[in-house]
Amino acid sequence: MKQNSSVWHPYTQMSEWEKFDEIVKGKGMWLYDSHGNKLLDGVASMWCNVWGHSKKELVDVIIKQSKKLQHSSLFNLTNEPAEILAKKLVKISPSMNKVFYSDNGSTAMEIAFKIALQYWKNIGKNKTAIATLENGYHGDTFGSMSVGYVPKFFSNFKNQLFHVIRTPVPVKYRIPKNYSYEEYQNYCLEKIEKLFSNNDKIAAYVMESGAQIAGGAVIFPKGFQQKISQLCKRFDVLLVLDEIATGFGRLGSQVEYQAQKSVPDIVAYGKMLTGGYITMAATLTTKKIYDAFLGSFKEMKHLFHGHTFTGNPLAASVAIENLEIYEKAKLIERIKKTSKIFEKRAHEFADLELVGDVRFKGMLMGIELVKDKEKKTPLSSKKSINKIAFEEGRKNRIYLRTLGNIVMLVPPLAISSNELNFLMDSTIKTIKGLAKIISN
Ligand SMILES: Cc1ncc(COP(=O)(O)O)c(C=O)c1O
Repeated sequence: MKQNSSVWHPYTQMSEWEKFDEIVKGKGMWLYDSHGNKLLDGVASMWCNVWGHSKKELVDVIIKQSKKLQHSSLFNLTNEPAEILAKKLVKISPSMNKVFYSDNGSTAMEIAFKIALQYWKNIGKNKTAIATLENGYHGDTFGSMSVGYVPKFFSNFKNQLFHVIRTPVPVKYRIPKNYSYEEYQNYCLEKIEKLFSNNDKIAAYVMESGAQIAGGAVIFPKGFQQKISQLCKRFDVLLVLDEIATGFGRLGSQVEYQAQKSVPDIVAYGKMLTGGYITMAATLTTKKIYDAFLGSFKEMKHLFHGHTFTGNPLAASVAIENLEIYEKAKLIERIKKTSKIFEKRAHEFADLELVGDVRFKGMLMGIELVKDKEKKTPLSSKKSINKIAFEEGRKNRIYLRTLGNIVMLVPPLAISSNELNFLMDSTIKTIKGLAKIISN
């Protein structure tokens, strides 16, 4: 271990790492380390960076706002940036009416679960169960681990997590034998329908909107989410959508649930909300949900939740500017154009020795590495694949973080065509390098 470091890194077997590259500067799509090497940010600094680093307009807003008001709480008070941002978020989010702020995606989802459960209590109905799609991920706090249960990550805490009902998800690459992709989609929807019709205690159905990113870039088939939303309406189950990683243009639409034609009761945003500059997340609800929390003080119907930095004016002012630049720069149109490169070049990955499947949508590509293309056995190795891929990526001047055997390309949304092509060229070299290391 680097002797003078006291930092414990996330999701990292620390004994594998002697030291970590120290990033000292970010400019555009590039991160610069303390030795002057530069790496293209292939994962948008954990899927949140929009414009690249050091975008002047966002930096200027941080400076300007920090001279006026750095933090003041939403307990008994309000502040202008939090008010303006909430109005803007409601405006871009069809059917949404109120915004509850928090600091990160996991807590935005905790809030969504609490609102959904308390909603039914407040209106006097006994609905207490949560159902969700298998293979989802909603963060690392206990509620989020319970709902987005990833066995490999969270089995150590299994006994402490609350019970959640799971229904299957159609993963195109791994459809069970005897089913076509379409038949399996119908099977998954029938499972939800059966569950809803046999269990009237279901308070909410929770899912990521458009795709499961941490679950390995599993992109939902057309109409799947819409049909789930229709089932939720039919059986009076709240639909809770997680757009923390998939909204704000990641999949090619600013509001993914709009593209999916599925209106939620509750939706959460995070990551790209501030362009990836300051931590902030938001949980939005419809008026129907919000109204159920109104009453006399004694009724105790209000939401028992709040964080120190809820509605932080510095973060809110950056988010406001970020949203304004989305419009000015016509970012969504730009993503639609640039992302065609993924489609055009996907076959170059598919042809590689280790690659079993390539999945992409918007500014997202997942490249699944396998030991055996026929049997689809996931690639494994004694050392973490992430570490090998990271080191190979660094040789090719890109910053990568894989999800196990899946190489994720999740660049800043405003990446140029040239830079995206560079990221793809370097990723191909990286996968070839990784194949050599694993075969030795
Ligand atoms: C879909 C989804 N929800 C929630 C989270 C948790 O967000 P955070 O890491 O900000 O807590 C993530 C993080 O990757 C995510 O991908």
